[in-house]
This record gives sequence, structure tokens and C-alpha cells, in this order.
Amino acid sequence: MEHAPGAACPTLVRKHASKDTGMHIGSQIVIRAARESDAEAIRAAVTAVAAEKWYIATVEGFSPDETRAFLKHIIEGNLPQVTALAGDTVVGFCDILPNTAVGFTHVARLGMAVRAQWRRQDIGRQLLDACLALAKKAGIEKVELEVFSDNLGAIRLYESCGFAREGVKLRGRKLDERYQDVVLMALWM
Ligand SMILES: CC(C)(COP(=O)(O)OP(=O)(O)OC[C@H]1O[C@@H](n2cnc3c(N)ncnc32)[C@H](O)[C@@H]1OP(=O)(O)O)[C@@H](O)C(=O)NCCC(=O)NCCS
Repeated sequence: MEHAPGAACPTLVRKHASKDTGMHIGSQIVIRAARESDAEAIRAAVTAVAAEKWYIATVEGFSPDETRAFLKHIIEGNLPQVTALAGDTVVGFCDILPNTAVGFTHVARLGMAVRAQWRRQDIGRQLLDACLALAKKAGIEKVELEVFSDNLGAIRLYESCGFAREGVKLRGRKLDERYQDVVLMALWM
């Protein structure tokens, strides 16, 4: 799948349909590179997933300024990033950001999420596939990520795309008196 900044990619076809789960069935989802004008919609998506508390490494999300700066960095650097949208709503995102330190530039770090109501509809897999293709094109050799060990759905998705476990940070996070181990995973491109 080719992505140019701001270019729309093929519309996704939904795999699952349910009247009971609250999932948004039947809407058209477009996966494309983020634009600077998406900043507020992306911030809203990150904030929503962060507020769930247990899946990503922030419970608060990021400020409008931080989000704009992040997006500007990605767009100006033409870095691997894709966003899933239902209309103007960002329902998911994936980015793979290269390490800029001398000796580490062959490695990049992956972050992704899909908003709760939109999960299990193949959006995560399509975001991941599209973003990995961009990373490969960008010459990234190794994609690394960290995932909480109790995030079994995410781990399954990563393993199905070829990521392998490299280690674990035991009790790497403590939130609400609950410890979570942090699993280190990586994919050699
Ligand atoms: C992980 C996440 C991105 C997956 O996105 P998604 O759109 O729900 O995933 P998909 O529908 O594309 O599922 C792809 C595969 O992942 C696995 N998977 C995803 N969610 C799963 C779950 N809850 N339980 C078991 N397997 C799951 C399955 O193997 C699935 O394939 P299948 O549907 O053919 O069985 C999403 O659950 C999410 O955003 N979670 C919260 C944020 C997060 O965990 N981000 C990653 C932090 S490291």
C-alpha cells in the first residue's frame, strides 16, 4: 500500500459485525498519513485510550501543543505513521519513530492504538501492516515496542505480524497499587 503524506488509502472493509457490542459497524474507515489539521482528533483518540489506563504508557494523554509538535515532527520528517479515520474522528493510529541517537538509527519504536468502540474490526492489523510497510520503505532495520504483559490482544497481534519477545521488565509499572510487567518485543525487517 502506498502512502504519501495526506493521501487517502483504500477504504477498509469491516470483518466483523455486531449489534450488541457497541462497535461502529458500516462506517467507512480510511487509513492515511496524518495531517497537521488532524492534531485535535488525534489528541482526542490518544486521550480516550490513555483514560482506559491499562494499555498505553500514559493515563492522561498529551496537550494540544505536545500533539501538534509531535505531528509536525512526523510530517516534516516523513516518518512512518498512519491514521484510521471514520469521517473526522480518528479511531486509530500507528507510528514507528526512528531512534536518532548515534549507533541506534537502525532501530525505531512502534506505538499504536485503536479506540475501544472500534476494536476487533481489523483496524489494528491494517494500521500495523501499513505502518510496517512504510518503515521498511524508510530503511528501518528493527522495530521495537513495549507492551504490558496483560495486554494479550496486542501481544497476539504483534506475534501474528512476526514480532518476537526479547525480554521483560518485571513490575515495570505500578498504577493503582497494581504492578504490570512490560514485555519488550521486536521485529527485524
Ligand atoms: C491492540 C489493538 C491496537 C488491536 O487493535 P484492533 O483493531 O482491535 O485489532 P484487530 O481487530 O486488527 O485484530 C488483529 C488481531 O489481533 C489479535 N487481537 C486483537 N485484540 C484482541 C483481543 N482482545 N483478544 C485476543 N486477540 C486479539 C487477534 O489475533 C486479531 O486477529 P483476529 O481478529 O483474526 O483474531 C487494540 O486492542 C488497542 O488499541 N488496544 C488498546 C491500546 C493498546 O493496547 N495499544 C498497544 C500498546 S503496546
